[in-house]
Parts: sequence; structure tokens; C-alpha cells
Amino acid sequence: MIELDILGEHLDRAYPILAGLVTPRPIAWVTTLNDDGSVNVAPFSFFNVFGDDPPLVIFAPGDREDGTPKDTALNCARSGEFVVNLVTEDLKKVMNRTSATHPYGVSEVEVENLATAPSSVIAPPRLADASAALECKVHDIQIIGTNRLVLGIVHRVWVKEEFFDTETLRVRGDRFHPVGRMSVPNWYCHTNDLFEMVRPG
Ligand SMILES: Cc1cc2nc3c(=O)[nH]c(=O)nc-3n(C[C@H](O)[C@H](O)[C@H](O)COP(=O)(O)O)c2cc1C
Repeated sequence: MIELDILGEHLDRAYPILAGLVTPRPIAWVTTLNDDGSVNVAPFSFFNVFGDDPPLVIFAPGDREDGTPKDTALNCARSGEFVVNLVTEDLKKVMNRTSATHPYGVSEVEVENLATAPSSVIAPPRLADASAALECKVHDIQIIGTNRLVLGIVHRVWVKEEFFDTETLRVRGDRFHPVGRMSVPNWYCHTNDLFEMVRPG
């Protein structure tokens, strides 16, 4: 085994090492409102769901190299609202393009001509073509070093009919296949190679 001192000698490799090992990661494609009302969208794979009562998600925009917060972090702090859009195969390329750095106020939604749909209980819209979306209100933003952890409570879930069983109220895991983020710099995975394992009683 290779031992790596991730807080010491290998601190500058922490990102590729951890982001390469802790895989696959889901991708939050986050819509927020800029202060002029235009819609910002950007992907974040330091993301997951952390509990259900209340329904809790966390994603983590890191500060830019010049020490300034990313637009999504600024918008979450100012408005207290965001939507997590989930990324399926059909949207992976445009999702990637929206990670380009633009000056604050430039709407990636307009640049990429993405259609939006109104949210129900928050102002930022969801992406109309996303198969699922979570309307969230900011619970807290924790700043740890250059990481800004945005903790959000999910108030509404949107999911396309084909991916939801209305009898069991479960997501159809045999159909819903969001893409996963793999090792740095540019790897992803499909999530349609499933197996089942029943938990002991
Ligand atoms: C799949 C993917 C995942 C990403 N995950 C993160 C992340 O977890 N944290 C982060 O700070 N940046 C992440 N990025 C980079 C941001 O999307 C990028 O910096 C973007 O320009 C931020 O936009 P904003 O300034 O509009 O918020 C990711 C990019 C891609 C393509």
C-alpha cells in the first residue's frame, strides 16, 4: 500500500487523489439567480444527499484561485435558494459546457440556450430538460478553508413520469441513469450496469 500525507507533503495533490478515489460521484447541476435576475447554472460533483428528515443535500463550490467565491456560491448566499438538476446521458455534453468560467452575470442558460421551467416554492427555475430536479432552500453555508459547503433543505422534487412508479412512490432505478463523475481530470461513468443485493434482516 502507498501511504499519502494528504494534509502535508501531498496537500497539492489532495484534489486529484480524493476525487479519483471517492467515485462515482453524483453531479448537481445547480441553477441559481444572479442579482440581475438572470439564471446561472454550473455543475458540482462534490455533492450528495445526507439525510431525509429533513431532506438534506450538500454541495461544495470551492473558491477560485484568486480567492473569490464562485457565482453559484455567491447566489446561494444572497438569495438562499437553488435548484439541483440531475444529469442524465442526454444532457452530459451541455452540462460540461456550462462549467466554463464566465464573468458574474453571464447566464450559462442563455449562452447554451437551455429551456427553463418555473419552480414551485423558490425563485430560481429548474432546467426543463432535466429528468429530475430538487428545489432547495439554503439551511447554512459553512466555509472550511477554500471550500464553501452549501447545506440545502429540499422542498420539492420534480421527476419525469417515466422515471417514477406512482404505485410504490419509488424512483424507477431500472430506467433512471444519471451520469457519474469519476477520476480527475475528465472521466465519467454510466450507471446502467445494476445488480441487486438484499440487506440482511
Ligand atoms: C462534472 C463537473 C463537476 C464539478 N464539480 C465541482 C465541484 O464540486 N466544486 C467546484 O468548485 N467546481 C466544480 N466544477 C467546476 C465548476 O462547474 C466551474 O468552476 C463553474 O465555472 C462554476 O460556475 P459558477 O461560477 O457559475 O458557479 C465541476 C465541473 C464539472 C464539469
